[in-house]
Amino acid sequence: MSIFVHEKEKLFHLTDGHQFSRVLKFVPGVHKREQLIELYYGRALPDDATLHLDSSLFALASFDGINQTSPFVYPVSGHGDFRPVACAVTEENGTQSPCFNFVGYKVAQGKPTLQGLPATYAETNEEATTLWIYLKDEITSLEVTLLFTVFEKLHAHTSTAIYHNAGKQTLRLDKSASCVVNAPQGKEIMHLHGGWARERQVERFTAPRGTFSISSNRGASGHDHNPFVALLDPTTTEFQGEVMGVSLVWSGSHLMEVDLNAFGSLRVVAGIFPCAWQLKAGETFTLPEAVLVYSHEGLNGMSHIFHKLYRTRLCRGVWRDKERPVLINNWEGTYFNFNEEKLLNIAKVGKDMGLELFVLDDGWFGKRNDDHSSLGDWEENLEKLPNGIAGLADKIHDIDMKFGLWYEPEMISPDSNLYRAHPDWCLHAENRERTQARQQLILDLTRGDVQQYLIDSVSTLLSTGKIDYVKWDMNRNFGEVGSAQTSYTHVAQLHVRYMLGLYHVLETIVTRFPNILFESCSGGGGRFDAGMLYYMPQTWTSDDSDAVERLRIQYGTSMVYPIASISAHVSDVPNHITGRSVSMKFRGDVALGGNMGYEMDLSLQTPEDVAEMRAQTQRVKKLRKLMQQGTFSRLVSPFETRNCAWQVSNEDLSELIFFVFQQTVTPAMYPIFVQLQDVDEKAMYQDEEGNVYAGAVLKHKGMRVLFEQGQGTKDCASKVCYLKKYDSVL
Ligand code: DGJ
Repeated sequence: MSIFVHEKEKLFHLTDGHQFSRVLKFVPGVHKREQLIELYYGRALPDDATLHLDSSLFALASFDGINQTSPFVYPVSGHGDFRPVACAVTEENGTQSPCFNFVGYKVAQGKPTLQGLPATYAETNEEATTLWIYLKDEITSLEVTLLFTVFEKLHAHTSTAIYHNAGKQTLRLDKSASCVVNAPQGKEIMHLHGGWARERQVERFTAPRGTFSISSNRGASGHDHNPFVALLDPTTTEFQGEVMGVSLVWSGSHLMEVDLNAFGSLRVVAGIFPCAWQLKAGETFTLPEAVLVYSHEGLNGMSHIFHKLYRTRLCRGVWRDKERPVLINNWEGTYFNFNEEKLLNIAKVGKDMGLELFVLDDGWFGKRNDDHSSLGDWEENLEKLPNGIAGLADKIHDIDMKFGLWYEPEMISPDSNLYRAHPDWCLHAENRERTQARQQLILDLTRGDVQQYLIDSVSTLLSTGKIDYVKWDMNRNFGEVGSAQTSYTHVAQLHVRYMLGLYHVLETIVTRFPNILFESCSGGGGRFDAGMLYYMPQTWTSDDSDAVERLRIQYGTSMVYPIASISAHVSDVPNHITGRSVSMKFRGDVALGGNMGYEMDLSLQTPEDVAEMRAQTQRVKKLRKLMQQGTFSRLVSPFETRNCAWQVSNEDLSELIFFVFQQTVTPAMYPIFVQLQDVDEKAMYQDEEGNVYAGAVLKHKGMRVLFEQGQGTKDCASKVCYLKKYDSVL
């Protein structure tokens, strides 16, 4: 049992019995109403102990002062709580003060689906327990249901809210968040910021007075601020200490606020970017869910929980648990300049190296010889591909490789037949110039007819059965937000309606083509979020495949997202973005830390490099199951040191892979030792060269890092060590 209810005390205890307890309780509030407060959120408590948590401080006679410290579970504007709230509603007469009464609750095994939204799921009812708390504002008849689900064995819980207008007037939801978390002052904030080619950099600092927020109003989760935030103690490290992480299962515009007020009360409010949603009489509005993870085992402890939950109970479909193919993508190898012969030459070298999937990127359709045209005209360019996509796919299949194709279905080029036929099919504001980015506009996915067009056009090629993988790209964010078909009172609603339209399209397509492996992409990692992982189990992490930059990008991404979702390619040198040249070994070792692939013209590589890539590919195939499904821990941060290290281990600790990287060499340094985590201290381990190590030494002293001969004096040296328990080696 993971949700305990103490009826008399009106107390609800959510716990996994190991990591966390979250205690919610109704206490007397202003206007003699009962208010739901978060009495406790922290390390797991025995259920009996929760009755000894003191709530008297939060019983309100009036709102003065004390209201400013109350840890409300779902704070509403207009009743003396001057902090960022979860709920703000405007009635037709302009008043803004809904006041919710407790109507009832329900606890049941399992987890309900969220209509039209991505969400974590339970495969059996026993895996999860859900608490529904029903609230109602008597004056407007607005009903809010708060939903909390505990995944006991996965040590996480989720939170969201469902609004239902049971009254007669239209209500405007000025703000409607998914969750609120309260904490005492003295915490630090950690979040993942970035930009194009520099995604998900780790930043950590003391929570300041006032409101710190991360957000996106781009119509996508964006490169700048990943929809994730954590509160942690100043003493928390990767390996120990308390951390509370909040991650949104949402791919659109979002807002996450961390507020520390004058009274020292800290609050996180997380949800969609406020959108003035018009909730008409009889309508329901379901918010995306937030996933909450509390760990007292440091940042790695938090990440382990997110990884397992997202890999096994967010990702779906046949590819969820399958080893991912090692691929070759032609983008950086040819850009738009290719023909069938050139592609087949690349594929043949790839096949000879042992690669399993050939991916044809941008430029195969319409008149697309650069990025100025043709998005929307999804017919093959027969000048480049005289046998069409089907003919090319057949030839790739004939050499026993899978065939993958790039699409950017959400976009439309002004220079396209689709745009000439349907100039009103893009998001735009009437009578205003349409702002282009990368010479393209965005299809208006708030419209049913455009959604249907998109489903049909993507399905046409996929239905041939010749495509095994799709890279679903999206290369610009919102400009003018408006729709020719629907005039919503407030355009901000289109941010949500667009995403709901996209989710409908994705659900239809992935259901229709269950065997295709889908990878999402957005100018690199501009939509790397839990929402997209529900439809597509892997994401192109960044357009920056420079191995040094990738250390930081992959390290930051791993805070929340599982390794099986992080695509990592070896590309040519000098790197196309940074101009840096590093060894094939270093590039391969970094890419092995994700779903590995290659992205270059293989037919132009030296025989030595091809031989090295062949060896890398063999190694990936040997190690990928463990990489993709094992427990990943960060050991040394590339943000804090010149080095970087991480490891992966299996459940019974009989196998592990240790990675260490030297970004830049420092002379006259004490030899590097890296302490491993997730090691059986009682066991002996052996590496592939026959060296033997004691588990206890690896854990408490660390592994002495000796880079291969010659490498130790160079920048960008690396070592990957596969260790097996000694007795199982013999
Ligand atoms: C952006 C992606 O991130 C790249 O990998 C590539 O697919 C280009 N788009 C193609 O236009």
